[in-house]
Amino acid sequence: MAMGKLASVFILFATCCCRSLAVELTSNNKHPVVNEFQSVVLSCNIKSISTPDPRIEWKKFRGGETTFVYFQGKISGALENRAELTETTSILIHNTTRTDSAIYRCEVSAHEDVKKLDELSIELTVQVKPVVPRCSVPQSVPVGKSASLTCVETEGFPLSTYHWYRNNEPLPANPNSSPKFINSSYTADPKDGTLKFSEVKKVDAGEYYCVARNPAGTARCGPQLMEVYDINIAGIVGGVLVVLTVLVLIAVGISCAYKRGYFVSKQQTGKNYKPAGKGDAVDHARPDEEGDFRHKSSFVI
Ligand SMILES: *[C@@H]1O[C@H](CO)[C@@H](O)[C@H](O)[C@H]1NC(C)=O
Ligand SMILES: *[C@@H]1O[C@H](CO)[C@@H](O)[C@H](O)[C@H]1NC(C)=O
Repeated sequence: MAMGKLASVFILFATCCCRSLAVELTSNNKHPVVNEFQSVVLSCNIKSISTPDPRIEWKKFRGGETTFVYFQGKISGALENRAELTETTSILIHNTTRTDSAIYRCEVSAHEDVKKLDELSIELTVQVKPVVPRCSVPQSVPVGKSASLTCVETEGFPLSTYHWYRNNEPLPANPNSSPKFINSSYTADPKDGTLKFSEVKKVDAGEYYCVARNPAGTARCGPQLMEVYDINIAGIVGGVLVVLTVLVLIAVGISCAYKRGYFVSKQQTGKNYKPAGKGDAVDHARPDEEGDFRHKSSFVI
């Protein structure tokens, strides 16, 4: 019994002793998430260390590239002028940008013995608000035809999801889920932003806009009107008939006028007019009219 106790005390002492020679790091948050332009702390704290003068380095890993963030007592690289060491070993970034998203590694060693080292990695995610999406809405669609509305933006991180509105009302993902939209034939894809109608109906007409959304914010495009019209065969036939009727009436009118001698009397007026002011008549007449006029005149003479 006594021997066993002694052994366990010894083991405890050995562990304490050897631990205290090394460095041990902890972090409050190994996966910080922040919105672009906000500040963030990359938390790395020394739990125990044998030396009062630790050697601290920070590295950044992004897109297969490794760069120094803190080295030989200085912030360097992309974070220069934008970050500072805080609470001895943590890093405070003041104005994050989207390219700060990366894995950062905090490495701390006892100065006199670099082998007594601990390190930990922090994965920073900088979220980016969506920008105004590009939306396309057909201006007018005939009843019964298909129609496709699209909405996309490429700045947001994480990737945006898309939500369509008609006359300021959100369209449910499934039209059958709401009595208000039950007669619509659309399918909405929140991931790629399309809103597809297999068969447009009169009730689908309205002002449409789309909202791009991610955890950092939202952005919407301006509303655009989609009109829905009937292809009315009877109406088209009727319209053609009206036009034909009008043409026939005009033709009849012209031939009547001709028979009654309206055109002949006009020519006579021209002939009578000629001697009154020959010079003036030539000045005002266009060349072809003049030729025509002379020809007729000589024929009459
Ligand atoms: C933050 O950085 C952006 C560019 O990344 C700059 O336009 C903006 O002025 C900065 N804001 C502050 C408060 O420094
Ligand atoms: C849907 O269509 C049915 C049958 O045409 C009609 O009775 C009903 O009022 C319509 N509902 C809406 C919300 O338009």
